[in-house]
Amino acid sequence: MKKLRKIGILTSGGDAPGMNAFIRAAARTALANEIEAYGVMEGYAGLLAGNFKKISSPTDVSNIISKSGTVLYSARCKEFEQLEYQKKAAQICRDNEIDGMIVCGGDGTFMGATKLSAQGIPTVGVPGTIDADITSTDYTIGFDTAMNTVLEMVDKLRDTCESHARCNVVEVMGRNAGHIALRTGIAVGASAVAIPEIPFDEAGAIENIKKQRAMGKRGIIVIVSEGLPNYAEKLASTIEKETGIITRFCRLAHVQRGGSPSLEDRLTASEMGVAATESLIAGKSDVVICKNDGKICDIDIMKALTLDKLYKGKLSKEEIDVISAEDRVWMDARCKELRSRIEEYYRIANLIK
Ligand code: ADP
Ligand code: F6P
Repeated sequence: MKKLRKIGILTSGGDAPGMNAFIRAAARTALANEIEAYGVMEGYAGLLAGNFKKISSPTDVSNIISKSGTVLYSARCKEFEQLEYQKKAAQICRDNEIDGMIVCGGDGTFMGATKLSAQGIPTVGVPGTIDADITSTDYTIGFDTAMNTVLEMVDKLRDTCESHARCNVVEVMGRNAGHIALRTGIAVGASAVAIPEIPFDEAGAIENIKKQRAMGKRGIIVIVSEGLPNYAEKLASTIEKETGIITRFCRLAHVQRGGSPSLEDRLTASEMGVAATESLIAGKSDVVICKNDGKICDIDIMKALTLDKLYKGKLSKEEIDVISAEDRVWMDARCKELRSRIEEYYRIANLIK
């Protein structure tokens, strides 16, 4: 096995609190193993521009563990989806003697990682997204902090709703997934939670709000996932019209991506950063670091992306048919487990609303 001499680290896609903790851990693990570490600025765009920044010593990544955003910055780079640019990026890595890459982001970033691996640059992915929408892992860096931000914001909204006996419909992020909405909905004591994964009973929710008001409830909170596009604002006006309760709409938006990372995000990002560099050292490539049932593991990126598409119903019958029997058993079990987790949270949200 060829000794690893120099690695590149980049962050890509939407930033997530904890990405800096990941960068720090990945770089320090490299340095501890006498491997040179380079930060690649602004995701794949920076890679194509050869925009590298040497991390010469552990102090170069000091005092970033508590900071949000990403010190390597992030970007979306459409060009990188084309083979021509993937080849160019691999050549830039070779020219700079970078013989391993670690990329932190969401499933788009992993598509880039697998393409870079295919061009001969061993690449490892680390899940960094507030959405927790990567099917192969229970945990993604940033999810916990984003949810805590939602709690903090919605608790404040509840204060004013309580004073004025109003309702507030809050739209939270998550792209097409309702994980942030569902878990924060339970944690803020929402009167209703609407997510894309389960049909929302609007009439039932309005009846419940009327009942709660009749029983003396003043402040009412409804959480809606952005995975139901433009629904939150519409729901707010329907609630006001049907119940007579003054109802405001609030989109929390990008505030959810900021803020000092929580303990859970710092811890998991540190574990994942170490695991990513150690995977490269062990000669692995084209894998994504995951945390399932509390344990760090790595999964083949294509397998992880296939599972993701299977879960999201994006695979054709022909594509499903070529999955090996062994992988199919694992994928079906994983999809079943994730669906039942969502159903159980939804049941709890409704039971104790
Ligand atoms: P995320 O990683 O959070 O899912 P994006 O979907 O925006 O965010 O993807 C981040 C970046 O990953 C893109 O801007 C692009 O550079 C790269 N990427 C996305 N899809 C592909 C693809 N099919 N092939 C190569 N690179 C891709
Ligand atoms: O993937 C993270 C995320 O914040 C999603 O929750 C949201 O849908 C999207 O990124 C917003 O993207 P942008 O930063 O391009 O507005």
